[in-house]
Amino acid sequence: MDKQRVLTGITTSGTPHLGNYAGAIRPAIAASHRGNIDSFYFLADYHALVKVQDPVRVQRSTLEIAATWLAAGLDPNTVWFYRQSDIPEIPELTWLLTCVAGKGLLNRAHAYKAAVDRNTAEGLDPDAGVNAGLFMYPVLMAADILLFKANKVPVGRDQVQHLEMARDFAARFNHLHGPHFVLPEVVIDESVATLPGLDGRKMSKSYDNTIPLFAPQKALRSAIMSIVTDSRAPGEPKQVEGSALFQLYQAFADRDQAEAMRQAFADGIAWGEAKAALYGLIDSQVAPMREKYESLLAQPIEIEAVLREGAIKARKLARPFMAELRDAVGLRDLRDTGRPVASAGPTAPTAPQAAAATGDASIKPASIKQYREAGKFHFKLLDGQGKLLLTSTGFDAARDVGQLVARLHDSGGAGLRHAGAAGLYLGEDVLGELAADTSLEAIASALATFAADADP
Ligand code: TRP
Repeated sequence: MDKQRVLTGITTSGTPHLGNYAGAIRPAIAASHRGNIDSFYFLADYHALVKVQDPVRVQRSTLEIAATWLAAGLDPNTVWFYRQSDIPEIPELTWLLTCVAGKGLLNRAHAYKAAVDRNTAEGLDPDAGVNAGLFMYPVLMAADILLFKANKVPVGRDQVQHLEMARDFAARFNHLHGPHFVLPEVVIDESVATLPGLDGRKMSKSYDNTIPLFAPQKALRSAIMSIVTDSRAPGEPKQVEGSALFQLYQAFADRDQAEAMRQAFADGIAWGEAKAALYGLIDSQVAPMREKYESLLAQPIEIEAVLREGAIKARKLARPFMAELRDAVGLRDLRDTGRPVASAGPTAPTAPQAAAATGDASIKPASIKQYREAGKFHFKLLDGQGKLLLTSTGFDAARDVGQLVARLHDSGGAGLRHAGAAGLYLGEDVLGELAADTSLEAIASALATFAADADP
């Protein structure tokens, strides 16, 4: 059986805080190390645009959150780690889901409804100042989840309704078009939902009560010193129940440390002393990551490369699945006729299968062969009859070939051009050589015949 897929995203609208770390990032990384699941972690930067109109902030937050995952020990080679906006299949799927999403259901989404209620209470037009992105937020989120067939989605309580909606859209789509989508399940970690902020309420950017994860030591210390406590004097026994300080301590302590602190509370530890202990505990865990974080922030080139690789890996799954979904709804190759009308589903024939069945050689899929020669990485493009169309130049890294092939595949031939004798370019990048007696047009039509699920 396939491994269970666990998927979660963090919106790139702010600076990561202790609550994000203890609540989402730390457990996610621990789970990814257990190896019995496939993990999908992504930066929800399209979602950030719903609330943030400041481009510098979106970019900075994306950098910070990516650096946080990596500094906290995420191994991008063992998980799928990517940036939402690098996956064009997500907005593409969003539209297909938009067309099965009940508008009435979206009207009842908590975030949208709260905005409408506020307006109504103030005697304004119900939709005053509400952008359609807020309204569509649950559909975009459903696309994030359904595109990768996630089984489990760990989120905070406030996201439960979004998961219900994702299941609703998936079920409607499956009902109409066949069983394409996995219905995702929400996973709520109770200990996570309750990590308190400085004022004792849930730590959240919207309450302005957060402790930044990678604040410099001095700032971390003074934030911790400002945690709200009661007025019990040193020597007076203190209660752990309802104490934000204790809960924060517990979130970073092992069992023995937590027990010792519980005893210290009973014995009347001074608040100042308890806060100093909390600072020492948190800093001892954060300090090594902080160093890594700072060095990553200074090297955005590295993070950018990791994310681009992640997108290539994620799109290996997304692209063929999206092709299946396009086919299911009827966005099809017009040459591919005589298909069963209403039985579309994962078992419906793909374009090349249909071509093979009808013996119509003109729509046999093209193929790309990657190979290695004299220490360099190359690829060839062949048409459906096996005729050579193009031979690439040699690249130093397999990854460069992978990226170029993916781009070529996506381009459908647009952006291809000749320069010099037989030199072929894709945009600004050298591609290789056009084979004898063929043409750019032949390449474009070969690219158009790619199998719905052919892996380039
Ligand atoms: N809406 C989520 C939040 O605010 C972030 C998010 C976007 C997400 N897409 C997702 C979470 C998909 C899980 C799965 O926390």
